[in-house]
Amino acid sequence: MNTIELNYSRRSVNFFDANRVLPDKLIKVVINEASYAPSAYNLQPFRLIQVSSKDAKELLYNAAYKQQKILEAPVTFIVVSNLYAFQRENPAWDESFETNGEESTLKAIQSATKFYGKDDISRVKFAESNSSLFAMNLMILFKAHNVDTHPMSGMDIKKIKEGFNISKNEDVVMLISAGYFDRKQALYTRKKRKTTEMLLSKV
Ligand SMILES: Cc1cc2nc3c(=O)[nH]c(=O)nc-3n(C[C@H](O)[C@H](O)[C@H](O)COP(=O)(O)O)c2cc1C
Repeated sequence: MNTIELNYSRRSVNFFDANRVLPDKLIKVVINEASYAPSAYNLQPFRLIQVSSKDAKELLYNAAYKQQKILEAPVTFIVVSNLYAFQRENPAWDESFETNGEESTLKAIQSATKFYGKDDISRVKFAESNSSLFAMNLMILFKAHNVDTHPMSGMDIKKIKEGFNISKNEDVVMLISAGYFDRKQALYTRKKRKTTEMLLSKV
C-alpha cells in the first residue's frame, strides 16, 4: 500500500472484533515507528497509557461516555502530554547538552519556556499540537500494519485523570482504540470532506 492508498484506507472503525488479540510485540513496533513524528525542539511531550485489562477497560468506558468500542477493542491508548515538557527535566534536552553545549542549550530552554510556557493557552497548544501529530502518525502506522483505530475525545477528563493517576501537569489529549474491524458489522459510509476551495486561501 503506498502512502496515498494508506491515507484513504484509514477509517475510524466503530466496531472491533473482540476475539482478535493485538500482540504487544506489534504495538511496540508501531509505537517506535510513530515516535519519528516531528515535535517542537524534538521535545516529544507525549506518552501513552495502554488500556488492555478488563478492569481498566471498564474504568475507561465509564469515563468516556460508555463508548462501546472501548470494551470491544483489544487495546485503547490514552494519549497523555506533559504541559511542561519544555523544562530542563525533560531528558530530550540531554542530546542538545551533548551536541550543542551547555550555554546554547540553556538559552534554548529559556526561549522554549518563554514561548511555550507563557500561559495556559500556550501550554495546552504546545502539548496538544505535538501530541496530535504523534497520534496521527500512530494511527497511520497501525493501518500500515493492517490494524484499525478509532480516535476519541468524548470523555470526562477529570475522571480519566483520577482513574489512571495522571498528574495535574499533564494533559489528556485523546483516546485511540486499536484492533481489527469486526467484519460482521457494516462500516459507516465515509463522511464528505470540505473542498480544497473551502480549506485553502492564498495570499
Ligand atoms: C480528535 C478526535 C476526536 C474524536 N472523538 C470521537 C468520539 O469521541 N467518538 C466518536 O465516535 N468518534 C470520534 N472521532 C472520530 C470522527 O468522528 C471521525 O474521525 C470522522 O467522522 C471522520 O471519519 P474517518 O476517521 O473514518 O475518516 C474523533 C476524531 C478525532 C480526530
